[in-house]
Amino acid sequence: MIKLDSVTKQFGAFAAVDNISYEINNGEYFALLGPNGAGKTTIVRMLLGFIKPTSGRIIINGMSATDPKSRQYVGYLSENHMIPSYLSGLEYLLRHASLIGLSGKDAVVEADRVLETVAMKGEERKKAAAYSRGMKQRIGLGAAMLGRPKLLILDEPITGLDPIGIREIRTVLENLRNNGMTVVLNSHLLSEVEKTCDTAGIMYKGKILVKDSINTIVKNDETLEDVFIRYIEKENE
Ligand SMILES: Nc1ncnc2c1ncn2[C@@H]1O[C@H](COP(=O)(O)OP(=O)(O)O)[C@@H](O)[C@H]1O
Ligand SMILES: [Mg+2]
Repeated sequence: MIKLDSVTKQFGAFAAVDNISYEINNGEYFALLGPNGAGKTTIVRMLLGFIKPTSGRIIINGMSATDPKSRQYVGYLSENHMIPSYLSGLEYLLRHASLIGLSGKDAVVEADRVLETVAMKGEERKKAAAYSRGMKQRIGLGAAMLGRPKLLILDEPITGLDPIGIREIRTVLENLRNNGMTVVLNSHLLSEVEKTCDTAGIMYKGKILVKDSINTIVKNDETLEDVFIRYIEKENE
């Protein structure tokens, strides 16, 4: 589904992403873990074609990430996602539906489907101003799922939510597992992903230290900090 081949992104002399290669298979639930500034969002922006790698290649669904067609089956939730406070969840979803070419009854039916998926049925007519952060985030996730994308890219989907909000998003993500969707998410929180994802990459200062199954990467009772220290020490051996 996704292939990064020796990808580097320089901002001036600084390499935010430094010669990274990995693959994500169809149906995989992948978490990219790393502290703030590691380069996670920079990878997402390259996956979505917002910026181009300085060198290397990214292939999505058999196409170069620089080809807009590669994004046809991709849904995206940005970091610090916001909904204008004067729109209801439904109005927000209908605006997004129009961006993927749905209108009239088709748009309403599709908005209704995603409202169900993100457990926001019954709340869709309230203005976003009245939503909790978790509810706004679930509407954002719903917008990313309009049109049944095969690949969902989520940048810090749970960061900043309270424990109930976290559990609600996690439940939505776990339910998607049965739909054969590929999910790629970024996080700086280990607890957020260890229950949801199959595989993880540990990113630090632009490099991927490891990409493997969660069970291999996280030993019993370890925190993300413990995992980092273990891999960084291994790097320095
Ligand atoms: N457009 C840019 N210009 C210069 N530096 C940038 C730009 N975008 C990101 N960076 C830098 O690249 C590094 C990685 O950023 P980012 O990918 O946002 O990290 P993360 O998402 O892991 O927190 C940071 O040091 C950030 O300041
Ligand atoms: Mg980021």
